[in-house]
Amino acid sequence: MTLSAASPIPDITKNHDHILILDFGSQVTQLIARRVRESGVYCEIWPFNQADMDKIKAYNPKGIILSGGPCSVTEKGSPRVPQGVFDLGLPIFGICYGQQVMVQQLGGVVEAGESEGREFGRAYVDVVDVSPITKNIWEKGAHEQVWMSHGDHVAKLPAGFHIIGKSQGAPFALVGDDARKFYGVQFHPEVVHTPHGRELLKNFTRDICGCKGDWTMNAFKDEAIAKIRAQVGGGKVICGLSGGVDSSVTAVLLHEAIGDQLTCIYVDTGLMRAGESEQVVSLFKNHYNIPLIHEDASKIFLHALDGVKDPEAKRKTIGKLFIEVFDECKKQVGGADFLAQGTLYPDVIESVSFTGGPSVTIKSHHNVGGLPEHMELQLVEPLRELFKDEVRDLGRALGMPEDFIKRHPFPGPGLAIRMPGEITPEKLEILRKADTVYLEEIRNAGLYDAIWQAFAVLLPVQTVGVMGDARTYDFVCALRAVTSVDGMTADYYHFDHEFLSRVSTRIINEVKGINRVVYDVTSKPPGTIEWE
Ligand code: XMP
Repeated sequence: MTLSAASPIPDITKNHDHILILDFGSQVTQLIARRVRESGVYCEIWPFNQADMDKIKAYNPKGIILSGGPCSVTEKGSPRVPQGVFDLGLPIFGICYGQQVMVQQLGGVVEAGESEGREFGRAYVDVVDVSPITKNIWEKGAHEQVWMSHGDHVAKLPAGFHIIGKSQGAPFALVGDDARKFYGVQFHPEVVHTPHGRELLKNFTRDICGCKGDWTMNAFKDEAIAKIRAQVGGGKVICGLSGGVDSSVTAVLLHEAIGDQLTCIYVDTGLMRAGESEQVVSLFKNHYNIPLIHEDASKIFLHALDGVKDPEAKRKTIGKLFIEVFDECKKQVGGADFLAQGTLYPDVIESVSFTGGPSVTIKSHHNVGGLPEHMELQLVEPLRELFKDEVRDLGRALGMPEDFIKRHPFPGPGLAIRMPGEITPEKLEILRKADTVYLEEIRNAGLYDAIWQAFAVLLPVQTVGVMGDARTYDFVCALRAVTSVDGMTADYYHFDHEFLSRVSTRIINEVKGINRVVYDVTSKPPGTIEWE
């Protein structure tokens, strides 16, 4: 990639009180950050081993959260908090491993888990004392549900700490030193299975750390606009639209900031859902009046994919071609100085890897809004600090239509990866029709927002059926619907049988070429969400 050096970009997050989360490798550290943001407070996640005292002091947080993690503090060489963190005079909140490491470093004792001390899943905490951390949430004597996942547990507290809550496996489930404002929980307040966890974290960020709670998407919008103007000056920006939420919000935000200095490029690969291109063009060109190049490249894409069956070969063909077409479109704009991208915070966070080495490539992800190589452009990435739900809120703050904001994700390679085997225009047409019926029924049943992603897949398998009195020999359509938080893990959606019968009947009656419908009941892992 040949990107020229970026101009100095003002850091708008510095205007807000912020919390630092030191990551010890928990699977759910991002959830801690999301809960903190929901409390109206900006926060960042730093891997514990990249946080030295100078860096932490310069960052100037109002409080520090220590995440959970897979290690045991009883093992030699396990991660530690820089000791100076405890002398900063800042409030600290340790979660699971974070609690144990804090206790150990302050002179308490942590014991490796015997079988009776381990707790995984739902547990209950008996609240035995009052404290600012539980103020207005849990009263002394209450019995409260939490979510645990621990082997080790605290066995002796450091001086100054008192027990606030106990569970069966963790006599020190919730502890605190109210004078120093140090708190530790053995359970996970960041997950939804701890019903009051969100409020406990809010007590920490707002009351105990004293953060103002001024991190809202309305405020962010104005600051981001000022930041974009400062970065771009009089330059020209191009933005690849995919029809997805991230690139759409990026485009609308940029348009508010720099008006006609922005041109959007929408490449129609011929692999879109029914009506997709029309919707994107109508929203951006007609509704927002954003200069838009709508490139119909479907013939080129379908030609290049002719005879390609292998999933990775499909992805690579599409990715390469996309960049070429995008490059051509850029020339139509008459050159540009900046490329805008909808990169989100989860793409930016460097999570701690305890296994080391690169992870196995399951799929070569190709993002239609993604970064073309060999382009001498500076990047504008106004969503870099945001989580997906914040991007949706930002879209609302920008007045974008709700049905656009709540759209299910759609992969860059489009229907090509929802059609195992060969891709033909005829099969694409069959798939589009089935997919339209399926989504129409989901919307009619009021289920669209409860589902993370739903789509039809056309299998390269023909089966025998009977319609009227005639024999049919047609394709099988698989239906997929999943619930998920971030697409990393997913569960299949539990439709009732009547709904599935209705969809199946409609698809077989209305879509010529399909005579059998099946429902995919695979979770991720072991399956992936898409079929290829
Ligand atoms: P998988 O199939 O890996 O998908 O479980 C996880 C999420 O990512 C989407 N996806 C993609 N998105 N380009 C994209 O922009 C891609 O190449 C791509 N492949 C998968 C998928 O739809 C799901 O939301």
